[in-house]
Amino acid sequence: MKFHSYKPEQTKNIGKKLADIIKNNYVYFSQIILLTGDLGAGKTVFVKGLAEGLDLDVNITSPTFNLINEYEGKPGLIHMDFYRLDKKDELIQIGFEEYLNMEAVKAIEWPQLAFDYLGNEFIFIKISNISENKREVMIEGEGKKSQNILKGLKKYDNIRD
Ligand SMILES: Nc1ncnc2c1ncn2[C@@H]1O[C@H](COP(=O)(O)OP(=O)(O)OP(=O)(O)O)[C@@H](O)[C@H]1O
Ligand SMILES: [Mg+2]
Repeated sequence: MKFHSYKPEQTKNIGKKLADIIKNNYVYFSQIILLTGDLGAGKTVFVKGLAEGLDLDVNITSPTFNLINEYEGKPGLIHMDFYRLDKKDELIQIGFEEYLNMEAVKAIEWPQLAFDYLGNEFIFIKISNISENKREVMIEGEGKKSQNILKGLKKYDNIRD
């Protein structure tokens, strides 16, 4: 699936709709969402939308230094950002595998070093900078559950509103 976003609010709304589908079916509560794309593409903006869609009354800030932020809810949200991670080994030290096993939505920015630890069930998102405010948001599902979530997403008439 591919969408264009013309302002931050629209990118946020896509995340919000995705979270809405997840929140309404407990089988999706542990969903992994990988977020890739350039610096400043809108990955964290997307995660803000996820939090809103999960009805979490929280202020999402980029976990660039602490790598992992955890927010309680039903389901909760675990927001990770591995931009500053140098080696795969460090993932073990920060307890990445324990976080993966938690029943919470996991949103991972800069997930490249984490790929080996992931199973075959995740949503992959790539946000590309087209111009100052225009972004292309590409969403793919790996695994059956992830693909079912995206089927739900396709049913929205206008995903950006
Ligand atoms: N259509 C758009 N969608 C998302 N963000 C946009 C859009 N247009 C402009 N922006 C701006 O782009 C910036 C995106 O910042 P954000 O922190 O979400 O990026 P990021 O991908 O998380 O970067 P990083 O890799 O540094 O974590 C924000 O300042 C936001 O206001
Ligand atoms: Mg970010």
